[in-house]
Amino acid sequence: MQSQKNPEQTPQPLRDLIASAVSRRSFIHAVAGSAAFAALSDLPGTLGADKSDARTDDLFRFKGIPPSSSDTVVVPEGYVAEVLYRWGDPIDGQSPAFKKDASNSAADQELQAGMGHDGMEFFAIPGEDPNRRGLLAVNHEYTDQILLFPDGLAPLPPDPMPKEKVRKSMASHGVSIVEIERNDKGSWSVVPSKRARRITADTPVRVSGPAIDKVGTSTRGTVNNCAAGRTPWQTYLTCEENFQGIFGTNDTTFQPSTSQKAYGLDRFGFFYKIDGNKVPGYRWWEQEPRFDLSRSDNDSERFGYVVEIDPLDPTSVPVKRTALGRFRHENAELTVAPDGRVVVYMGDDEMDQYVYKFVSEGKWNPNANQVQGARIGDGILDRGKLYVARFDADGTGRWLELAPGLNGIPTKQTKDDSHGFDAAEICTRTREAAKIANATPMDRPEWISIHPTSREVYVSLTNNKSRHATDAANPRANNVYGHIVRWKEDNNDPTAESFRWQVFLFGGNPTHEDPAYRSNAQGDFFACPDGLKFDPSGILWIQTDMSSSVIGKPGFADIGHNMMLAADPSTGTTRRFLTGPRGCEITGMAMTPDRKTMFVNIQHPGEPADDLSDPAEPMKVSQWPDGPDGGRPRSATVVIRKLDGGTIGS
Ligand code: FEO
Ligand code: CA
Ligand code: CA
Ligand code: CA
Repeated sequence: MQSQKNPEQTPQPLRDLIASAVSRRSFIHAVAGSAAFAALSDLPGTLGADKSDARTDDLFRFKGIPPSSSDTVVVPEGYVAEVLYRWGDPIDGQSPAFKKDASNSAADQELQAGMGHDGMEFFAIPGEDPNRRGLLAVNHEYTDQILLFPDGLAPLPPDPMPKEKVRKSMASHGVSIVEIERNDKGSWSVVPSKRARRITADTPVRVSGPAIDKVGTSTRGTVNNCAAGRTPWQTYLTCEENFQGIFGTNDTTFQPSTSQKAYGLDRFGFFYKIDGNKVPGYRWWEQEPRFDLSRSDNDSERFGYVVEIDPLDPTSVPVKRTALGRFRHENAELTVAPDGRVVVYMGDDEMDQYVYKFVSEGKWNPNANQVQGARIGDGILDRGKLYVARFDADGTGRWLELAPGLNGIPTKQTKDDSHGFDAAEICTRTREAAKIANATPMDRPEWISIHPTSREVYVSLTNNKSRHATDAANPRANNVYGHIVRWKEDNNDPTAESFRWQVFLFGGNPTHEDPAYRSNAQGDFFACPDGLKFDPSGILWIQTDMSSSVIGKPGFADIGHNMMLAADPSTGTTRRFLTGPRGCEITGMAMTPDRKTMFVNIQHPGEPADDLSDPAEPMKVSQWPDGPDGGRPRSATVVIRKLDGGTIGS
């Protein structure tokens, strides 16, 4: 939907200060000579330390595939991709089937896969072979409200969106928990399960952590569930990203409050305006007052959190963990420090927003009796320190603690002091606190992933077309192709307050005529990195999200559709592994423990360049996944496996 996008722009010729930093040869030279490289060069995972192909062969051996413009999922020779779980599919094999004209009711949708599949995790079921059966938790990030209904957006304002439509749209957000099983031929399917459930924008949710002083201890719903994470106590972390899209008002006299402005909610200005056939936002507020920004009791401060879900307990109540801050959360990458404290890395995906880290006060003890379930998070994810990252030009960085009285953040003096912060406000006005602390504004931080052995941390910075001032960590003024930055904490301790960093890869084509847009990738090129996830073998899987408005356009013509690549962190070698159908984004990755089954999400196949689907011709752009008789293009989870039964990547 148009209001959810960050439109890209076609690259313009640019020969400024970044030129020397992004031509491949000079990049290596420049970085090799910098403090950043010197500081990291003792690490086995340092780019440029060993460029031998033999080394990469130890990590992955599949034959890379070319860029694609075909309306299908393409995987390497010897691999197969099978559709597992599409928007509208029943969650347990028994709930209502998908109707191709999108005429399923709201009640149906509450028992079917939501739209916009994004982050996901695979969970073992105690007593079951996890390589043959398990639970898949899948995020549903957003809704194409034109494809969701047979008659698209009708009726248009001033007639309100009907209650039934609002309810169906709300049910298409959130999370699916489905039980899946592999048959003897290797194919996977969703099976009936007492654990299958949908969590939607209407599910009762508990709120915990410091912000409860401000927003209370309960609410309903989780929305715009972008990327994800997991805890060692086997819970799922789902991250609320573009939650601003569900709030709005038809009150033309509305003025955002100071605190709403602090979160960027003042962009709602256009939500009560109709522009041709563009309809603003989700319009849920036309039926649900809690989403109406003009109401002082609206729920806008109850969204924008990381939400913990216990996938094994279908009666469990999801918990919003406010100690992890409130912003446009992308994913939540968790690790356990040597002393047992839990550390969560998080990105805030908007231009010039920040990278965060939470360090728990409590410790996780895997040998304690209680090793499973969201109640552990009450002790660990509710109390701790929240930090934001500053990347300095000398290749070092600092974690700046966000707390009243620290790093320039003023302490709240009186109840009516709207400038100062208390602990609750650190967790609701998080962006504002981070800005005061002088964190480094980044080129849209998307996923963060930690190398399984070196503990280096990688963040994808997908693009930023309007960077005003470049800096060392965001060196492209018109960063249409994005890049990936990595860092290593001092003493290799995730709780450290300082680190060393460098740029790992720049997006773009390595042969681009303009060095300002050239990539340093050793191998297959890509643009707009977004999904980023290490598998346990140390392969870095990179997934791309070029906007539909730029796919195939000048500057992007040779890149094809969105894709997934394998990258070797030690050599910088990249190899294209999967390409998606027309108009899609590739996002979300999970694996079975034996690494023989990989799950990947295809989000919004068929999204038109202008973001406006056509209700009269829903398959104009894409017929994926079910071909001409499928009725609608549908976001879906696909299963990838090797025909010879080998591990993924081999
Ligand atoms: Fe949901 Fe920033 O991607
Ligand atoms: Ca993303
Ligand atoms: Ca993205
Ligand atoms: Ca998307």
